[in-house]
Amino acid sequence: MASNKNLLLLPGDGIGPEVMHEVRRLIDWMDRRRHVSFNLGEDYVGGAAIDATGVPITDAVVEKARAADAVLFGSVGGPQWDSHGFDKRPELAILTLRRELGLFANLRPAIVLDPLVGASTLKPEVVKGLDIMIVREATGGIYFGEPRGIETLPDGQQRGFNTESYSTHEIERVARVAFDLAAKRQGRVCSVEKANVMESGLLWRQVVTALAAREYPNIALTHMYADNCAMQLVRNPRQFDVIVTGNLFGDLLSDLASMLTGSLGMLPSATLGAVDAGGRRHALYEPIHGSAPDIAGKGIANPLAQILSFAMLLRYSFDMDEDATMIERACTSVLASGLRTTDVMAPGCAKVGTHVMGEAVIRELDKQAA
Ligand code: IPM
Ligand code: MG
Repeated sequence: MASNKNLLLLPGDGIGPEVMHEVRRLIDWMDRRRHVSFNLGEDYVGGAAIDATGVPITDAVVEKARAADAVLFGSVGGPQWDSHGFDKRPELAILTLRRELGLFANLRPAIVLDPLVGASTLKPEVVKGLDIMIVREATGGIYFGEPRGIETLPDGQQRGFNTESYSTHEIERVARVAFDLAAKRQGRVCSVEKANVMESGLLWRQVVTALAAREYPNIALTHMYADNCAMQLVRNPRQFDVIVTGNLFGDLLSDLASMLTGSLGMLPSATLGAVDAGGRRHALYEPIHGSAPDIAGKGIANPLAQILSFAMLLRYSFDMDEDATMIERACTSVLASGLRTTDVMAPGCAKVGTHVMGEAVIRELDKQAA
């Protein structure tokens, strides 16, 4: 059946291809059982692309991503590409896609599912029921600011420098995403910067405050310095609903928040662009975990973050809420039944590999669809 849903799969390196394989099986299942089909493309990114083409991502792949309705990304990087130089590092694949497709809003949920409450290093009473959403700006700030570089000083020393900068427009558009999400959740947004030290943070706070007053009177907006936010996330994470922050602080705080759940292997993410005149938006979905070279090729990686990233893709890019919820429920049921990959293994549970976990999700979906 011809499909109007164009999906580009970019598995990447390490465990990326292994966990992506489980999503492929899920896509086959949807075709068979839900009569939903996708036009699938697949290509190289990261180290795999360096090996095949000499660069972490080719222009042709960027164009394929631009043409697709959604991109499902795996993970990139590994020790074998560490020596290729800063301009050829595998990570440039994801940074290039964010920049070229204008994917400015990175949504990183940190959710503690009941069956996994014991997987956190924090006490169950601190994290039980946790459900926070970090909205990280992803195309600006110090990641992309100019000037940047390493220069040699007159005395022969070197100086490395980067620039943190945010414009009104950049701040407003990511804050809107956070406010809109909060409106469908608990209606609370905490905006995070270092307005006590950085001008870019001061402007951030002013712009977010003005936007909330102008357009979002029903949102409860608070502000927090980034260092305090890190501390509060560990002290009492459930005080947060939606957090909105810049690129670098978002990178740090989202790693921190993901570990509150104790299961990095479980968390999906979405990175969204602006909605265009035709109602279309570029979007990329990826698990929060990296390429995990230490366990790659062993068939033991947890495929659930990649599967849940696909569920997010259905929800945000295709408005397929019902299917997304079905997949999320299937993942929770499988965990509740006691199956665990190594990363979330607990006493009394059955340890399974990537493939068996993927299979169990599909069997659970079969049950739900019956
Ligand atoms: C992330 C990653 C990336 C980032 C790397 C791979 C460039 O850490 O998505 O959080 O720093 O943004
Ligand atoms: Mg990161």
